Amino acid sequence: MKITFIGHGYVGLVTGCVFADFGNDVYIIGHTKEKIERLKKGDPLIYEPGLAELLKKNLQAKRIHFTLDFENAVSQSDVIFITVGTPPKPTGEADLTAVFDVSRQIAKFLKKNLTVISCKSTVPVGTNKKIETIINKHKPKSAEIAVASVPEFLREGTAIHDTLNPDRVVIGSNSKKAIEILLKLHEPLNGKRIITDLASAELIKYTANAMLATKISFANLISFYCEKTNADVESVLDAVGLDRRIGRIFMNPGIGYGGSCLPKDVKALIQIGKNLGVNTNFLNSLEEINSLAQKNFVQKIKKYLPGKKLAVWGLSFKPNTDDIRESPALNILYDLLEAGFQITAYDPVANENVKKIFNNQIKFAKNIWATLKDADGLAIFTEWNEFKQVDLTKLKKYLKHPIIFDGRNIYDPLLLKKLGFKYFSVGRKTI
Ligand code: UGA
Repeated sequence: MKITFIGHGYVGLVTGCVFADFGNDVYIIGHTKEKIERLKKGDPLIYEPGLAELLKKNLQAKRIHFTLDFENAVSQSDVIFITVGTPPKPTGEADLTAVFDVSRQIAKFLKKNLTVISCKSTVPVGTNKKIETIINKHKPKSAEIAVASVPEFLREGTAIHDTLNPDRVVIGSNSKKAIEILLKLHEPLNGKRIITDLASAELIKYTANAMLATKISFANLISFYCEKTNADVESVLDAVGLDRRIGRIFMNPGIGYGGSCLPKDVKALIQIGKNLGVNTNFLNSLEEINSLAQKNFVQKIKKYLPGKKLAVWGLSFKPNTDDIRESPALNILYDLLEAGFQITAYDPVANENVKKIFNNQIKFAKNIWATLKDADGLAIFTEWNEFKQVDLTKLKKYLKHPIIFDGRNIYDPLLLKKLGFKYFSVGRKTI
């Protein structure tokens, strides 16, 4: 099939590369010349494991094309995916400006008897209907469209694997033809198929992300109880998680959820609830607990670091990405800088992005060891693999004081005790 993606962020670029790899002819439309030129040369613009290789392979095979021009791509495409951002407005409501702008652009150049317009951007209930209305208003009379909501569930850091192995492919549409075409397109992918209406598909995405945020905030809430009672949060959650109705996955306590999705989508769901007159207290609590998790961690550092020099490992909002949007690390850094701490940080791929925000307020190191010079202690914000099995004896020698604040519970407290560290983690006894 000929497919167009509008937008080359995580969703558009990764899904585009995967569909190109299946042999489809894929166009990806952007709006910044410089970025399109880099993409054409095989630079994916983001750090995502395996993506550069997949992009280069499909560029070489001429199955993927990057362009600023809507006309050529849109007029030929069987399916057009809208994959533009829906960032939060100051109120928390999703900003749909880009979605509606590209809908008008698409409409102008439609030519085929039937083009499926498939929205993958996370949008509030009712948005796909509005997309349909806008396109029908601006399209040529002879061109027909069918609108579908096909939400995306990939995670950053494992985006290619997730795209190839989704738990489910959700297709929401009133058009049998659109469903048929999209089922055909998704045929090579694993996962159950859920065929539903537009509103349900739109709500599935917010529900999934709010449920994930719930699991994390619940784990963090229980970690607060554990810290007050000397209980061990990992044991509690391990035991509770063995109940198959509950499950242990995605219940890791720490310094909270970040990224461009969970925080934004919880906020948007709160706004949607307010507009609909639905009680949003539960969702408000998720946000409150998330920010408390960060504040608790900062308090520990402020109270127990025997000096003002702190080494920091990990800045991205999760491992295997250079994305720092809404990274818990950023809020914590702001608080620590305000309190007069001097920080030397290292992240395997996110240093440059954080540098753009903090400039020379923070020192950046090229590796973990370089952060430790004169450091009074170490704080871990992101659970990158390379931190998990470091030589702890060497680490102890490098630190001025053998003290670790672990925001992701990556070490065994008993081992650290044996080695003579003072070790603060989340929801576990301090040793
Ligand atoms: C999330 C969802 O997991 C995807 O299914 C969805 O497609 C995506 O949002 C989206 O809407 O586009 P992502 O933001 O890439 O994916 O990352 P997650 O793996 O969900 O992690 C989000 C945050 O939660 C990270 O800061 C992570 O450190 C934190 N987290 C995750 C925890 O604190 N504890 C956990 O147990 C799991």
